[in-house]
Amino acid sequence: MNTGTQFFILLSIFLCIRVCSGDDYFLDDTFGLGRSFDGIGGLSGGGATSRLLVNYAEPYRSQILDYLFKPKFGASLQILKVEIGGDAQTTDGTEPSHMHYEDDENYFRGYEWWLMKEAKKRNPNITLIGLPWAFPGWVGNGENWPYSFPDITASYVVSWILGAKQYHDLDIDYVGIWNERHFDSKYIKILRYTLDKTGLERVKIIASDNLWEPITSYVIADRELQDAVDVLGAHYPGTTTVYAAIKTGKTLWSSEDYSTFNDNVGGGCWARILNQNYVNGKMTATISWNLVASYYGDLPFGRDGLMTANEPWSGNYVVESPIWITAHTTQFTEPGWTYLQTVGHLKNGGSYVALTDERGNLTIITETMTHDHSVCIRPYLFPYNVTAQNVTFHLNGSFASISELQVWHSKFDFKTNNTAMMQNLKPIKVIEGSFIIELDVDEVYTLTTIRNGQKGSYPDPPPSAPFPKTYKDDFDVQGNPYFSEAPNFADQTGVFEYFTNLTDPGPHVFTLRQVVTQRPVTWVADAYQTISVIGDYKWQDLVMSCEVYMEAVHTGGVFVAVRVDKGGGVVRSAKGIFFWVYADGTYKVTNDLSGMTILAEGLSGTRARVWYTLTLTVKGNYAAGELNGYPLWKNAVLWEPRNGWAAIGTSSFEPAQFDNFSVEAE
Ligand SMILES: *[C@@H]1O[C@H](CO)[C@@H](O)[C@H](O)[C@H]1NC(C)=O
Ligand SMILES: *[C@@H]1O[C@H](CO)[C@@H](O)[C@H](O)[C@H]1NC(C)=O
Ligand SMILES: *[C@@H]1O[C@H](CO)[C@@H](O)[C@H](O)[C@H]1NC(C)=O
Ligand SMILES: *[C@@H]1O[C@H](CO)[C@@H](O)[C@H](O)[C@H]1NC(C)=O
Ligand SMILES: *[C@@H]1O[C@H](CO)[C@@H](O)[C@H](O)[C@H]1NC(C)=O
Ligand SMILES: *[C@@H]1O[C@H](CO)[C@@H](O)[C@H](O)[C@H]1NC(C)=O
Ligand SMILES: *[C@@H]1O[C@H](CO)[C@@H](O)[C@H](O)[C@H]1NC(C)=O
Ligand SMILES: *[C@@H]1O[C@H](CO)[C@@H](O)[C@H](O)[C@H]1NC(C)=O
Repeated sequence: MNTGTQFFILLSIFLCIRVCSGDDYFLDDTFGLGRSFDGIGGLSGGGATSRLLVNYAEPYRSQILDYLFKPKFGASLQILKVEIGGDAQTTDGTEPSHMHYEDDENYFRGYEWWLMKEAKKRNPNITLIGLPWAFPGWVGNGENWPYSFPDITASYVVSWILGAKQYHDLDIDYVGIWNERHFDSKYIKILRYTLDKTGLERVKIIASDNLWEPITSYVIADRELQDAVDVLGAHYPGTTTVYAAIKTGKTLWSSEDYSTFNDNVGGGCWARILNQNYVNGKMTATISWNLVASYYGDLPFGRDGLMTANEPWSGNYVVESPIWITAHTTQFTEPGWTYLQTVGHLKNGGSYVALTDERGNLTIITETMTHDHSVCIRPYLFPYNVTAQNVTFHLNGSFASISELQVWHSKFDFKTNNTAMMQNLKPIKVIEGSFIIELDVDEVYTLTTIRNGQKGSYPDPPPSAPFPKTYKDDFDVQGNPYFSEAPNFADQTGVFEYFTNLTDPGPHVFTLRQVVTQRPVTWVADAYQTISVIGDYKWQDLVMSCEVYMEAVHTGGVFVAVRVDKGGGVVRSAKGIFFWVYADGTYKVTNDLSGMTILAEGLSGTRARVWYTLTLTVKGNYAAGELNGYPLWKNAVLWEPRNGWAAIGTSSFEPAQFDNFSVEAE
């Protein structure tokens, strides 16, 4: 702060004491501006959070994408961050790597490429970020650690960025280190070096997608690291930063935030975060985990997206309040705009920020959120009471000549849930550089010179419906399948991909294949088995059948299962009823994925490289299994769980194929 600014502030306070009637706030650029605004974003991944989105039929899928990305329509997101798939469980599932094996490269797996292209189609200016959570096992050379061979890890990550350009014409703008895990200074420098020598000087590095420390201290202490790191990105910062981080002069981001159930309370948390991350923490970008809740609602953190779209079978989706709260900022700013220095807290609670394009446009956003702060992911550090207040804004400097501001208003009523979102109110007249506005509690206002905001809408989507009780998939996807994964299968350990075996005489030319053959560098406790779940978590009694093919001679093992009760980071402890056959000629029926609780076992005569049909029937407390249509075991007694998903999988990280999947639920 220079002496001019100090003088100005003292003068303002003095003038205010003399003439101000109520609560006065001065918006002024005379003595310079604040930090450059980088945008509001959503995070797809960490992990598999967009899994069900790709399987929506048109026009619903495009509508959802419009609510997220289309400028001046809905959330109008300015940043899309995606997971660089690492074949491992990363919260709500696994995402496939572009290099399952050292000699393997494929830039068409998963749905993140598709999602980035859809986002770019709608907003060519959208900023793209990639970040790994996990890595294929070979990257760690067998260790659960990605930094033993930092040049291998760097070239693995850089190949993803090169592939994005080469195969999808996507320019990745930023890349991260290892989500919420250790960073390694040497690796960060090698990553910078590898980017530069590949012609990717423009790609910036974010570190370390964890807490403000220790990365800040490392950056301060190490000149070379300082040059390598462009952005200090912290997760769930609770709107604050540390003084040392500000002192680095680096751009500060909340590179993952929100993670709150997307009802109105979640919308309120998001409103406060978006303003106060800058007011309290000088953060110039905020990224929501997650982008869109497109994963089974009974997986961990159900509905923690800006909106919900987890029923591709019905077409139903729900545009939730966080979409409109985002719009309050994104529809009236662009990355590259600048925050004013004059931002802050409101006297009777809440906060205000103001941004400008430095060409005369001004956008002011106020929020006055009251609700119980404990429901937001991080406790709020300024828990004073919020009450209705009249505030006077004075527009000075470049803004002195503004005569009118467009008004957009949202209000939460947490008692009745009668919520009004993104209402376009009558413009405010600015008289001699000032105006008064009454702010009630739990409101968000955008006051702006930008005229073309819009509350976009589509006709209501079809009503919500449960997963179909009868479901079949023969995986016969000819030509180049649009996606590498079969609809509605949500991989929880391992990766299940469409597979074409042109030498097969039939009927198994097109199958689904588990392809991860080595335990990845994990992010959470993946199972030691692989598993993909599907269906309705409420399913109890059903008949499921699937053709299975073990590829691993002697050591192979595959299963079909129902009433599977867990996925995500706790998938290892999943219970259910699992029917396994092995290449050594045996079968087993277990009550859990880990195989600890055996309900039945015996000889099956099964071996590798032969197709078998497994049928599992569960009714009440009893289960029975058939092999190729003949009873193999029956009357296995089970008590728990009472319900859960259907699933397929393997007994280890081994290749195996599945075909002609079907379920018939009661
Ligand atoms: C992209 O950015 C440019 C420069 O800021 C701007 O003129 C243009 O309107 C933006 N396009 C969209 C679709 O937002
Ligand atoms: C504000 O933004 C609009 C639209 O981006 C632009 O046309 C106009 O020139 C800008 N400046 C002012 C002073 O409105
Ligand atoms: C907030 O208001 C409640 C009652 O309305 C009061 O008990 C409490 O002390 C107030 N807290 C603060 C920080 O003013
Ligand atoms: C704001 O000012 C208006 C007009 O003077 C007045 O009616 C209203 O009660 C005031 N609101 C508050 C919260 O003071
Ligand atoms: C703000 O601008 C007005 C003229 O638009 C001027 O009268 C007033 O003194 C300015 N206030 C400050 C604090 O600079
Ligand atoms: C408001 O919605 C929340 C969940 O979002 C619910 O728990 C609460 O009961 C609702 N309140 C009313 C009055 O409907
Ligand atoms: C492909 O089909 C041929 C002929 O049935 C079989 O020998 C081969 O093992 C199959 N390959 C795989 C990977 O399943
Ligand atoms: C697929 O399985 C069903 C039973 O669920 C069976 O009727 C059908 O013949 C099988 N199709 C093939 C191609 O094996």
